[in-house]
Amino acid sequence: MPVPGPVPAHVVYRTRRMVEMLTWYETVFGAKPVYRNEALAFLAYDEDHHRFAIADLDIIAPGGRADDRGTIGVDHVAYDVSSMRDLLEAWSDLKQAGITPYWCVNHGMSASLYYADPDSNQLEFSVDCFAAKSDCSAYFAAMTADTNPVGVEFDPADWLERLRAGEDERALLAIDPEGDVSPIRGALQTMIA
Ligand SMILES: [Fe+2]
Repeated sequence: MPVPGPVPAHVVYRTRRMVEMLTWYETVFGAKPVYRNEALAFLAYDEDHHRFAIADLDIIAPGGRADDRGTIGVDHVAYDVSSMRDLLEAWSDLKQAGITPYWCVNHGMSASLYYADPDSNQLEFSVDCFAAKSDCSAYFAAMTADTNPVGVEFDPADWLERLRAGEDERALLAIDPEGDVSPIRGALQTMIA
């Protein structure tokens, strides 16, 4: 089966014009940072925990040109899915078709499978870790320097088996704060200095 009911959720950009990008998205969308660290800003303008994220390549991969379309631009487009069980049943079927994710990670506010299409455009299918959007946003707001900023990787086969066995989805989605910080995978990984 295809991924059930994906709803467009957010877009992540890579840039060497961080200040201009933040200003533009605030001016046009009214989007404000909900979480920032040295290299990344997450922006929200409605009930969702983030609608944009912007990765600062001058921090992540210094030295490139500001107009290099090979590195700047869209990193990924994300779609919300309402159930991890449903998403993982689709993962299982897609695997049979030879389509597999390149990154499975629980970010804390949401847990995601990342895929690349035949042109290597990156997509994220994301399930909120909390029932209420406001609780996802609260997770962001409570993040500190000690919080895992990327997430903890998971094994989709393990999660699907546990969900099929009746394990509670919300309990499974609760991030382990002591879990190993996942490496960033995908195109951004190849650019990290
Ligand atoms: Fe994302």
